Amino acid sequence: MSLPLTVIKRSFSSTSARNAIKNVTVIGGGLMGSGIAQVAAQTGHNVTLVDVSSDILKKSQENIAVSLTRVAKKLYKDKPADGEKFINDSKSRLKIDTDASSAVKDADLVVEAIVENLEIKHKLFRTLDEAAPSKTIFASNTSSLGIGDIASVTKRTDRFGGLHFFNPVPVMKLLEVVRTHDTSEETYQAMMEWGKAMGKVCITCKDTPGFVVNRLLVPYIAEAIRMYERGDASARDIDTAMKLGAGYPMGPLELADYVGHDTSHFIIEGWHKKFPDNPLFVPNESVKKLIQEGKLGVKTGEGFYKYKK
Ligand SMILES: NC(=O)c1ccc[n+]([C@@H]2O[C@H](COP(=O)([O-])OP(=O)(O)OC[C@H]3O[C@@H](n4cnc5c(N)ncnc54)[C@H](O)[C@@H]3O)[C@@H](O)[C@H]2O)c1
Repeated sequence: MSLPLTVIKRSFSSTSARNAIKNVTVIGGGLMGSGIAQVAAQTGHNVTLVDVSSDILKKSQENIAVSLTRVAKKLYKDKPADGEKFINDSKSRLKIDTDASSAVKDADLVVEAIVENLEIKHKLFRTLDEAAPSKTIFASNTSSLGIGDIASVTKRTDRFGGLHFFNPVPVMKLLEVVRTHDTSEETYQAMMEWGKAMGKVCITCKDTPGFVVNRLLVPYIAEAIRMYERGDASARDIDTAMKLGAGYPMGPLELADYVGHDTSHFIIEGWHKKFPDNPLFVPNESVKKLIQEGKLGVKTGEGFYKYKK
């Protein structure tokens, strides 16, 4: 049976309008949360950014202001007045709040980007589940925890998914949209539409460890470090090989230094505990040693390589 085109168009647009996400609450005003809040405000959403203290939120606002200026310079190179308007309009759409419960009262979508700790995320989502209207979609930006595990403490597992952004959020084009067993089709479609409205290229992944990017990247880095540990090749030669032989912009050990050894070790250790039989998730001994020595990579001035502070 075929429907007249006008009916198809009308039903499509009414579904889109029903799902359209306008009010977004971002919880966590750190590196990722600030970036997500900025891009949401830039793309016309009403945004409330939440963190535990006003001081942190002030810092987030300052960082967002600097980043918006950078974006405006790029977008409105020859039109400074338009650039100024872009900055002011974006800022006017961004509010801050230290009370998560009141900040989700009108939210169509909540994106959580707080510290990577399941217990702390559970505590937050229990509170949000009580405070937010039933229509509100919840999403986590977690890099390494299971979305279903995080959602399990709420009564809205059908309106819960993963929205995994990449750092720096205003620059990186990719958004991984994660569906759990319970995520409804409507929730998934709303997240995809919002991701596109944010100007991102969305890919879909099941709720598997690391989704697509980190599931490939973390074991790749660990394997490169194992080569180095065995003495198969020097750190410099492993990096040069992957840059010139595979066309990667950075070698795996350079990348490990850039990401930070504490961060990637935390991820792989979590997966190793959950999936002890998977040889790809075995943590590296040399990384444990670097962490003990405080050599976390670029941010501390030393990792596999030394960096000028
Ligand atoms: N850093 C990355 O490259 C990256 C990339 C993708 C995803 N992620 C994920 O994003 C999340 C945040 O990472 P980040 O790098 O932005 O961390 P971050 O440490 O920069 O920021 C976390 C913020 O959350 C706040 N916070 C902690 N508990 C809170 C609570 N209960 N309520 C409100 N705010 C709270 C902290 O004060 C802090 O400002 C993590 O789940 C991480 O796995 C990080």
